[in-house]
Amino acid sequence: MEAYNPKVVCFSCNFGWGYLNNEETLGATILNWIPVACSGKIDTHHILKAFKAGADGVLILGCPEGHCHFQDGNYQTRKKVCLIQKVLGAFGIEPERLDMEMAIDPEGKKIPQLIARMKNDLAKLGPVKRI
Ligand code: FES
Repeated sequence: MEAYNPKVVCFSCNFGWGYLNNEETLGATILNWIPVACSGKIDTHHILKAFKAGADGVLILGCPEGHCHFQDGNYQTRKKVCLIQKVLGAFGIEPERLDMEMAIDPEGKKIPQLIARMKNDLAKLGPVKRI
């Protein structure tokens, strides 16, 4: 039997994460990584579409508090994440399958580490129980 390898889709803000690194280079080493102009650009349907496409978890990386280049995109997404976590829970899907980190990592070195940490946590949960 093949070992369970959770699939994580990671959206990250270009202004806070990996902007000193070449996007193609980072993209070649990070599976299912989607850089965006601001975490505020990530809509609910992007998150749900990722789950529908087979993701076991979705990780959003936004700028730190007070550092969003689009005023409050990170706060808006943080609120969205909290609401979607409640909706996931209502459908019997573990809320921790959706997570958001608000920090800064110009080199993008933490991105693979955060994805690995989430994959490790998801491995304990097992696959999403799809209905
Ligand atoms: Fe980074 Fe808005 S510019 S979260």
